[in-house]
Amino acid sequence: MAIIFHEGSKEFHIYNEEISYIIKILDNNQLGNLYYGKKVHDRDSFSYLLEGKLRSLAAYIFEDNYELSLQYTKQEYPSYGSTDFRYPAFEIKQENGSKITNFEFKSHKIFKGKRKLEGLPATYVEDDNEAETLEITLYDSLIHTELVLSYTIYKELPVIARNVKFIHKGKSTIILNRAMSVSVDFPDSKFEMIHLAGAWGRERHVKIRKLEQGTQAIYSMAGASSSEHNPFIALKRTNVDEFNGEVYGFSLVYSGNHLEQIEVSTHDMTRVIIGIHPDTFEWPLSEGEVFQTPEVVMVYSNCGMNKMSQTYHELYRTRLVRGQWRDKVRPILINNWEATEMEFTEKKVLKIAKAGKDLGMELFVLDDGWFGNRDNDKCGLGDWYVKNFKKLPDGITGLANKVEGMGMKFGLWFEPEMVNKDSDLYKAHNDWIIATPGRRSSPSRNQYVLDFSRNEVVDYIYSLMEKILSEAKISYIKWDMNRYITECYSSAENAEFQGKVFHKYILGVYNLYERLISKFPYILFESCSSGGGRFDPGMLYYAPQTWTSDNSDAVERLKIQYGTSYVYPIACMGAHVTSVPNQQVGRVTPIETRANVAYFGAFGYELDLSLLPEQEKAKVKEQVEYYKDHRELISKGVFYRISSPFEENITTWIVVSKDKREAIAAYYNVLNSANEAFRRFKLVGLDDNKRYIINGDGNRIYHGDELMNIGIIIDEKEFCAKGMDFSSVLYNLTQID
Ligand code: DGJ
Repeated sequence: MAIIFHEGSKEFHIYNEEISYIIKILDNNQLGNLYYGKKVHDRDSFSYLLEGKLRSLAAYIFEDNYELSLQYTKQEYPSYGSTDFRYPAFEIKQENGSKITNFEFKSHKIFKGKRKLEGLPATYVEDDNEAETLEITLYDSLIHTELVLSYTIYKELPVIARNVKFIHKGKSTIILNRAMSVSVDFPDSKFEMIHLAGAWGRERHVKIRKLEQGTQAIYSMAGASSSEHNPFIALKRTNVDEFNGEVYGFSLVYSGNHLEQIEVSTHDMTRVIIGIHPDTFEWPLSEGEVFQTPEVVMVYSNCGMNKMSQTYHELYRTRLVRGQWRDKVRPILINNWEATEMEFTEKKVLKIAKAGKDLGMELFVLDDGWFGNRDNDKCGLGDWYVKNFKKLPDGITGLANKVEGMGMKFGLWFEPEMVNKDSDLYKAHNDWIIATPGRRSSPSRNQYVLDFSRNEVVDYIYSLMEKILSEAKISYIKWDMNRYITECYSSAENAEFQGKVFHKYILGVYNLYERLISKFPYILFESCSSGGGRFDPGMLYYAPQTWTSDNSDAVERLKIQYGTSYVYPIACMGAHVTSVPNQQVGRVTPIETRANVAYFGAFGYELDLSLLPEQEKAKVKEQVEYYKDHRELISKGVFYRISSPFEENITTWIVVSKDKREAIAAYYNVLNSANEAFRRFKLVGLDDNKRYIINGDGNRIYHGDELMNIGIIIDEKEFCAKGMDFSSVLYNLTQID
């Protein structure tokens, strides 16, 4: 790994064993990009890659020299209107109304390691030798503003993490109308765009689009990263599959409004810009003020989609997730939500916990409905203390003690950012919600969003949570967020502040998380937003796992978990076995298949176990034991997608331990059909030269190369619910050499 500055050619070459990224200080002192892709040898100059010629209608930077026009120059952090008419990476409105800027190279710094981003989530290093960082400072001498572009390359991974800082030193205030985290210009447009789109209950479905001249974008302006569009896109070459071909991934480490835009220019170049959504953002900077963008993690793969995903998995699991839970296997939980919703008593939930304990589960989670006067979704949010002692006679402390007394850990649900009008909090502070004066405040799930852009609001919620967490033995928190932000306005502030509210809000959420995880480092946090509405890298920095979707149907989950795995480690995906008929889609699937899908995640149960027939209880007990035996492999192994639920009736995937000694391959057959063809399941990721035993059966020992090139012969007798829909089978492979 190295970052080299070639003084003569004024070029930076950022590279490791897998990737190269080359930046040039152009003749006008702005920054151009010469190359991003598979590693190439270093040389003193790559300036032969500069392309320029006289083109009709193009405007040029210099007189009498028709070479440099930004219209077709690949740039690092482009602005609009000074020969380039494409969408820019940033826009600064100045005192005289102009938006034209000229940021020129001023200095650079190369150092080992990686800086923290103040108040924002970001990937990190544990040892400075793991990564190297280049910071390039640009300066606009008319407005006296500096731009610091930061690039960190990891030694062992094909990753460059980028962010941008604006430092304003001028006397007059400037307004940032757009401050994207990255812009990358590619020399051609022979790509397809991949993104993860959806809705509540069908989050992160894989979508693929062709690129055409013009722009296409995904985004959220909902105040959360959203179920609709995950803050991630990839550009892939058209021949790419899971195992072959060139892919560029871009993942924004942020949980608020975002924009991922791709523009193909008239000369078939592709520009990617990613960052905070500019349409809901306006950030004034006075003298001495700084604005820091979130980070974008760029991953390059020349071995298809799996390699890109595995890179994200490794980085996010080990250098984004933090704290005591990062390297620990996660407890198997039993959550009461689908069993009782808000209608429970202490007796009822203790019965569920006890049934879970008897079957080997380790953590009981009390979901929504325990606080204030919360018996339905019209009331109680904001009052994070027990008021209804009929429901919980000994409060949370008493219940937690009883659960602990059973030998289980206790977890609790919160929705810290929200308030109901029917609550003590709203009665005392009805001006604490996000609402525009004189306009309707639109309810959603009968609740309103607290103005987390205000410190006193965050402080108050912290004080309530801190109290209960200090008093009761709480080992886990499920942090929910069940509505988006409408009529965005902070009534505590003046007009100039209003363009800051969405971003300040999410900084407030991060601040509350940071304070809680610092004070209670042993608590395992799981983030949630009506299921997977805020499943993003920003959240993973604070909460090591996220509830993947409220849709827990095993068949639907194949798509949701498959899509989620494009970016996110399976260890971070909350996945529960629930009752049938499934509450979201009404489907009846075998309990084995429900577990066979949920195993590939942070595993748990969410149903009234006491209602299960004895035969199923016995199966659950076996499942719990199975997960305990295999969770180390599942959560830390290398995950490969093999066949896609978006393309086929059969979904397959495999997780292989890093040393290739163990693996679990999963085969899910959604719909059955008559008189089916013979099938073989080709595995991946094993050691060609070692023999593996399948499911401990001495008659089934094969070399890795057989399993990967010939495949396992599928025997329908092995399926759970054979001859029926929604059947599945797991193959446990153990090396015997
Ligand atoms: C939405 C979550 O996704 C569910 O799991 C549950 O916690 C409910 N909220 C509770 O209101």
